[in-house]
Amino acid sequence: MGSLSRCSHAPHAVRGRRLVVLTAILVTSAAASSSPEAPGSSPPLADAEREAFLLEGKIVGDRSIPEGITLPRRVTLRQDDFEHDALVQTHDEHETRKHLEGGVELDFRDSWRNNVAAYRLDRLLGLGFVPVTVVRSYRQEPAGWSWWVDDVLMAEKDRYERGIDPPAPLGWVLQVFVVRVFDQLIYNFDRSLENLLIDQDWRAWMIDHTRSFKVFGELRDEKELPGRCERHLLAAMRRLDRPTLARTMEGLLSGRQIDGLLERRDKIVRFYDHLIATRGEPAVLYELPLRVRSADDPRDQPSPR
Ligand SMILES: Nc1ncnc2c1ncn2[C@@H]1O[C@H](COP(=O)(O)OP(=O)(O)O)[C@@H](O)[C@H]1O
Ligand SMILES: [Mg+2]
Repeated sequence: MGSLSRCSHAPHAVRGRRLVVLTAILVTSAAASSSPEAPGSSPPLADAEREAFLLEGKIVGDRSIPEGITLPRRVTLRQDDFEHDALVQTHDEHETRKHLEGGVELDFRDSWRNNVAAYRLDRLLGLGFVPVTVVRSYRQEPAGWSWWVDDVLMAEKDRYERGIDPPAPLGWVLQVFVVRVFDQLIYNFDRSLENLLIDQDWRAWMIDHTRSFKVFGELRDEKELPGRCERHLLAAMRRLDRPTLARTMEGLLSGRQIDGLLERRDKIVRFYDHLIATRGEPAVLYELPLRVRSADDPRDQPSPR
């Protein structure tokens, strides 16, 4: 699994395996891998509660994850009578030019900081596709701690390889479209199919963004932008502004990384504006059920009477 995950060091290694291919009819359910939760405890549900739990929970278990290159840890936390796991990432690497098997990668980044940045950007955009992630040191090292996703049915890799059709194929594809827009926005170099999890409700969870947020203003691959975009995601991308990003990403992203992000945002917005102008809004925009709200989402405002 790790070798696949990391084979995208070669820039085009995972190109062939598009996220949208749906083949077989059968839906089988894999064993759920949820974390231990004490019966009777009330689990933290809101982002702020989960953040507090990840920041303050006492470490009661710690194990390795037997795959991958960056070797994150799976740590069990406890607060009162509630236990839950966190993915702890300490890897932090940046090189302007890195020589890899597949050639030279420019502005190579593989950092825990990007896991936190991806979570905060996801919430600025009102998505709720990235598990809550906070900054907390681990064994005296700075690290990103992510909420372990409960009830994982399978990774997209397994779904694809086993040819499993989602119960609502269109709903799944429309979630994958969100992932593809997000990946262009953050210049994700590693959306290997292990890094997209599917929960029991067939909700997509984006994980492992350590290799994102290059400084480049170009899109990594404009062809990866789907022909349709979630309406609120597009509106939230339009609203992204430098002061908010600088404040939100302090200690995580440099000014140049934020500049690159905003330039890519401009390109993505232009891309969809052009599509809307030529095909019409109903053919381009769609809506998904709300998973979280962004801080300044107009949907939060009461409608004028
Ligand atoms: N938040 C999470 N919830 C559930 N499983 C996770 C989570 N983060 C990581 N994992 C699992 O751990 C594996 C390795 O973590 P990941 O962050 O992808 O690091 P790497 O690919 O560098 O090993 C993932 O492929 C996934 O199976
Ligand atoms: Mg991974």
